[in-house]
Amino acid sequence: MILRVGVSAPRCISLLMCRDGSARATSSADVFPAADWAYGALRSAPGIGVRQTLNEENNTVRNKQILAVPGPTPVPPEARLAMARPMINHRGSEYAALQREVVEGLQYAFQTKGDVLIFPASGTGGLEAALVNVLSPGDRVLSASMGAFGDRFADIAAAHGAQVERLTVEWGRAIDPEALRARLAADRDHTIRAVLLTHNETSTGVTNDIRALAAVVREHGALVLVDSISGLLAADLRTDEWGLDVVVAGSQKAFMIPPGMTFVTVSDRAWAAHKEARMARYYFDFSAMRKYMEKDQTPYTPAVSLLYGLQATLRLIREEGLEAGFARHARLGTAVRAAARALGLRLLADPDYASPAVTAIFAPEGTDPKTLRQHLRQRYNVVLAGGQGKLAETIFRIGHLGYVGEHEVIAVLSALERGLAELGIAVTPGVAVAAAQQVLAE
Ligand SMILES: Cc1ncc(COP(=O)(O)O)c(C=O)c1O
Repeated sequence: MILRVGVSAPRCISLLMCRDGSARATSSADVFPAADWAYGALRSAPGIGVRQTLNEENNTVRNKQILAVPGPTPVPPEARLAMARPMINHRGSEYAALQREVVEGLQYAFQTKGDVLIFPASGTGGLEAALVNVLSPGDRVLSASMGAFGDRFADIAAAHGAQVERLTVEWGRAIDPEALRARLAADRDHTIRAVLLTHNETSTGVTNDIRALAAVVREHGALVLVDSISGLLAADLRTDEWGLDVVVAGSQKAFMIPPGMTFVTVSDRAWAAHKEARMARYYFDFSAMRKYMEKDQTPYTPAVSLLYGLQATLRLIREEGLEAGFARHARLGTAVRAAARALGLRLLADPDYASPAVTAIFAPEGTDPKTLRQHLRQRYNVVLAGGQGKLAETIFRIGHLGYVGEHEVIAVLSALERGLAELGIAVTPGVAVAAAQQVLAE
């Protein structure tokens, strides 16, 4: 049986339920109340089942959303199809082959020959796993935080009993390697066990120079733990070459699959620290995970469908190549910043450390960023992210991370300039798009 719903206007719909292939239609939801229910159910699941037709309210294609948040990011069709595959035995040979290929792909993405562990969890689970596997309660930890996610990394360490010291900077700035060096130099007895770094701070749109920061930490001798949840694949990160001990990433960012998996690298030094580490853990225990991953399994049921999706996107990632991927993200970031400046909008990030994955922009004076985002979603089906923590009332963020190309960014920027004009901001039509085009044409 096929259920087809054609939509011509919100309350006037046609429902065709065909056993024999014939079609019946009605033009009013009042005449056919079941249609109203079906339409509502399908509408609440964007992209599923509803034929994409023109939405006469706003001249957009219904359910064709442009998701421009820094995660979850759009999922390519190759991965969506792969994730629809039938289930397999996670203790069988088919699964083993899948996991083997995925692990090799992850090693490519993290630029490591070492272990990459896969846990079914969002990125925060990966951060927790990183900490509890290499530290003991009472250990001194230095958190170098430049935003909401850096603070979270520190909070998790504190929750598990670490003595956390915080090196912070104003939101919008990166961590200065010299400030980190000075702080570590004061630790004459070398009692700081680990330094927590954020590669790409998603709340502010700032990317740290992890190579320089890691070199400073290595001089001191502490472990280097890196949150690269939104940074990996958008900006270069060389796990082995830069001496990073534990690096955490998440599935829903540049890996281009839905949320639900986190990936964690473990260096030889981190394995040595793990032997001594006494923080309580069970599900996230590295030893248990390694023991099973050596036989191409995981100790607990893996997220099989997500792994199928990841297998597909890792193939795309290899096809594009790491360098080309970094260059694409960098160009998109530069284009978005040029567009924002052309609109007279203020950027949060220090331009020397602006993120290739996400751009944080102050809303124009007197404009509520929430109203702007809501308008863009309703009028143009363009979804932007809000500000986090203390920036919630002042900024909005444009994600240009993962399965995103030039044409999507141009569409987002054209919606932004029209949306601003519709909210009464003086905008010359086309300035944002022109500024971005100029960057993209270079
Ligand atoms: C830099 C960074 N760290 C940590 C997290 C938390 O990840 P999750 O929401 O997947 O737990 C995010 C998510 O946006 C992030 O961008």
